[in-house]
Amino acid sequence: MNFPQGNGSPPKSTGSHRIAIVGTGYVGLVTGACFAELGHSVLCLDNDARKIGTLRLGELPFFEPQLHELVIHNRQAGRLTFSDDIAAGVRDRPIIFIAVGTPILPNDGVDLSQVCDVAATIGRELNGPKLVVVKSTVPVETGELVASIIAENSSQTHDVEVAANPEFLREGCAVDDFMRPDRIVIGATSEHARRTLQELYEPFGMPIVVTDVRTAEMIKYTANAFLATKVSFMNEIANICEIFNVDVKDVAHGIGLDQRIGSRFMRPGLGYGGSCFPKDVRGLERTAHGRGYEAQLIRTVEAVNQAQIVRTFHKIERALGSVEGRRVCVLGLAFKPDTSDVREAPALRLIELLTQAGATVTAHDPVAIDGARAITGDGVKYCSDIYGAINGCDVLVLATDWEEYAAIDFQLLRRLMRSNVVVDGRNLFDPDKVAAEGLRYIGVGRAREPVSLPARDEGMIPI
Ligand SMILES: NC(=O)c1ccc[n+]([C@@H]2O[C@H](COP(=O)([O-])OP(=O)(O)OC[C@H]3O[C@@H](n4cnc5c(N)ncnc54)[C@H](O)[C@@H]3O)[C@@H](O)[C@H]2O)c1
Repeated sequence: MNFPQGNGSPPKSTGSHRIAIVGTGYVGLVTGACFAELGHSVLCLDNDARKIGTLRLGELPFFEPQLHELVIHNRQAGRLTFSDDIAAGVRDRPIIFIAVGTPILPNDGVDLSQVCDVAATIGRELNGPKLVVVKSTVPVETGELVASIIAENSSQTHDVEVAANPEFLREGCAVDDFMRPDRIVIGATSEHARRTLQELYEPFGMPIVVTDVRTAEMIKYTANAFLATKVSFMNEIANICEIFNVDVKDVAHGIGLDQRIGSRFMRPGLGYGGSCFPKDVRGLERTAHGRGYEAQLIRTVEAVNQAQIVRTFHKIERALGSVEGRRVCVLGLAFKPDTSDVREAPALRLIELLTQAGATVTAHDPVAIDGARAITGDGVKYCSDIYGAINGCDVLVLATDWEEYAAIDFQLLRRLMRSNVVVDGRNLFDPDKVAAEGLRYIGVGRAREPVSLPARDEGMIPI
């Protein structure tokens, strides 16, 4: 395990707190396991009894590197327990983190029903002073909403403090991110809430930004909107590079050395997906819209993101003439490598477009096949072997840049494929190596084949 001090042992905790985490998903489970590792007593709660049952059996409901060993170790040490009895759990613990989902509504508004549900339960079960910490990503003013719901539902008077502590971990390296964050954001009004949360996080030895609750909520939305903007910006630049036969990798390098710009998060591809960026970008835009502000840039970030996948579909279509009756192999289904999460995965949207147009799709992913199958149904043939998925296909599309795909044997690939088109949706492959085997390489903004799609092409979705 890689801890902040880098000496293999967990950071020293300044004391043991009794914590409940409501919502044992990606964020809640990582938070719970990491706090337990610091020596705290953590009760992870979830209203999904099956998920709790799985965890009690010592299994994880999803794939996340390093997390399994952390959960097992802390369960055995008696510091990490699981329950689906939310009411009893919140009665039992003075510090309650809310880490439930905040999905998007059909009108792109933020669905706060899970957060409100937990707040109501805390109110009904109030039996003493509580520090309620909202870790879910929520619109500005949610802290105030949570406080008012707790008050409305409570028949007792106890000190209840509501704080915000947004989470910045990335799936795929969530444990490392939690243990070694760039910064920790605490939004709190009372001195007690600030002190308690600072005490919890001080062992990490990372910068702690202390603000009021609204500012902390805004910091999280702003961070995700900014990162999504970077993705869409580079995708747009890549698309322009394609018109002029310029390699976007060189462009990214050339601008990334400017310290005001920076070189990270500058890779074009199929666009962002996952459970955060798409919903948070839309959520921020809708929240602003609700108060009369049209966030045009943020709206466009999302439109460019959606267009990128349509553009990729058109690249495939152009390369094959038509996709009808053709076999397409999609490598990678998760929205990014090292996770089994397929929520809003670009690969699945692409598969939808391909099958609607009459293509037959075979697909592979190291860990995300079950999640993908649950969404696509039986219309896609899933293979547990990479070359089994490739066999007999007309076009290979790399949709998620799992490390193992970088080691693909292009000689074997050429022999197995029926046609020779390789669409590298993540710019993972070396175009020369691919071309050396007589394969036709199509990347994102790579200077091999000028793509004559005009800037206002079919890929653009009106906003
Ligand atoms: N996944 C990420 O990478 C990430 C990173 C940073 C922030 N976030 C934010 O953290 C929050 C949680 O995200 P996640 O990915 O962990 O979600 P998730 O869907 O994996 O987990 C949410 C969990 O909450 C449970 N739940 C729902 N309603 C409940 C209730 N009333 N009582 C008890 N449990 C309930 C669900 O069963 C589920 O297990 C979201 O707001 C998300 O935007 C996520």
